Amino acid sequence: HVAVFDFGSQYTQLIVRRVRELGFFAKLYEPEDIVNIGQPGAIILSGGPKSTSDVDAPDIDFEKLKSYGVPVLGVCYGMQLLNIKFGGAVKSSNRREYGPAALKPSSNDGLYEGISHESQVWMSHSDTVSDLPADAQVLAANKEGTPVSLQWGDRFFGIQFHPEVTHSHEGLRILHNFLLQANELAEFRIEDFKREMLDGIREKVGDKQVVCGVSGGVDSTVLAVLLKEAGVNVRAIFVDHGLMRLDEGDEVRNNFHRMGVEIETVDCADLFLGKLAGVADPEEKRKIIGGLFIDVFWDTVGNAELLAQGTLYPDVIESASNAKSKASKIKTHHNRVDRILELQAQGKVLEPLAELFKDEVRELGTSLGIPADILNRHPFPGPGLAVRCPGDITEKKLRIIRECDHIFITRLKDHGWYDKVWQAYAGLIPVKTVGVKGDERSYEWAISLRAVISEDAMTADWVELPPALLRETSNRILNEVDGINRVLYDISTKPPASIEWE
Ligand code: XMP
Repeated sequence: HVAVFDFGSQYTQLIVRRVRELGFFAKLYEPEDIVNIGQPGAIILSGGPKSTSDVDAPDIDFEKLKSYGVPVLGVCYGMQLLNIKFGGAVKSSNRREYGPAALKPSSNDGLYEGISHESQVWMSHSDTVSDLPADAQVLAANKEGTPVSLQWGDRFFGIQFHPEVTHSHEGLRILHNFLLQANELAEFRIEDFKREMLDGIREKVGDKQVVCGVSGGVDSTVLAVLLKEAGVNVRAIFVDHGLMRLDEGDEVRNNFHRMGVEIETVDCADLFLGKLAGVADPEEKRKIIGGLFIDVFWDTVGNAELLAQGTLYPDVIESASNAKSKASKIKTHHNRVDRILELQAQGKVLEPLAELFKDEVRELGTSLGIPADILNRHPFPGPGLAVRCPGDITEKKLRIIRECDHIFITRLKDHGWYDKVWQAYAGLIPVKTVGVKGDERSYEWAISLRAVISEDAMTADWVELPPALLRETSNRILNEVDGINRVLYDISTKPPASIEWE
């Protein structure tokens, strides 16, 4: 595999993704894990926010790094660190270079095979390498002639720019060229990975009873099908909290029926809506829903021997980095979440998807024979329509959201846009404005439509849907949904907005 060491750059996770896109398995490590990475085929050192001259600048055991005998690529901070390790120097600067720059490779082989004479790359740094050690070779410079790519010896490489972001136009090719320097890099194929996962599950579960929650979403669906495929004894539980979309419970049950997986439904809409009555604060609502959800789940499950969760790799990386930051100390852990942590400490939590990114989970789903329409369902938040219903939640508001959402989503499907957008929904704006319906004055709420594209939900951009689609959706909502006299289209990017309303 390819070991990627994290020096804190916001792009580190992208490096892992890109390597996997190139067909090789990559994993992220902290620099102090260097003794604990098995035998990698290649190593990448990420960028980071620190300067190598900072007192608390992150470091890596260089002797150990060399001892693996494999190609090493330092990106940004990683390159500066390598230059120092090889006896060179790094110059601090107050001026930050941020944005596109022209890269001029000095030759057209090795790292830069097939790369243009002048290639756009993405820079984000203030320090630069200054003194180069005697045996360092400059592989590329910027327009001003400053070295932005180095080679030390025959298998250590450095690049100042970020090949992992799409603004580096030939970044993927440069990463690939680097990986080609490795002797043996096993290709990452989801089929092989699936076999390993199934064996791992069988070994860990044996004849114990496993429980998992299903929501109808991609991750929990793939998890449930994977467990079934492994042939273990599994109970899949669907908690219907009454905040689902139109006919969603039936759709979820029908989907699992199609896949031959039995699920148990716990119907507790009254309980949730009762406890939520009159509560308008978004965080308060989330806390109530999260708490009740886990209560209901645990009551149904009884004493779990093994709990399976659809945790994905980005969650693992995020919680690892949160654990180190001060922010995590502010978080209040819910009692029952403690219970999951307790189970975890006893080795009773199974997270078979924890090494995969979302698109890989979809690929795994395909290889498990899950129909495409199920795998391509848009993400839907755990708290359901609650986060699309600002203020207190009532049956009337939920009905309106459901009806509008249904019209919007079916219009998207009919116009061939559903699979082109990452997520879409209707959210209520509980503000009354004046309109005319029939020949009468109306004084009713507004509905907001949102459709976004996104890479793993971290950022999002609104989609330029065809006016005809928007017009048809709006006409149908205004004519068919009682209580709405205005339809708005949300044109906010994330950041600064978020995808959901709450
Ligand atoms: P935001 O609104 O934070 O949403 O931009 C990012 C993505 O996460 C989904 N989302 C959730 N998913 N539980 C979930 O399982 C939640 O509490 C939750 N809140 C937001 C949201 O739908 C979007 O895809």
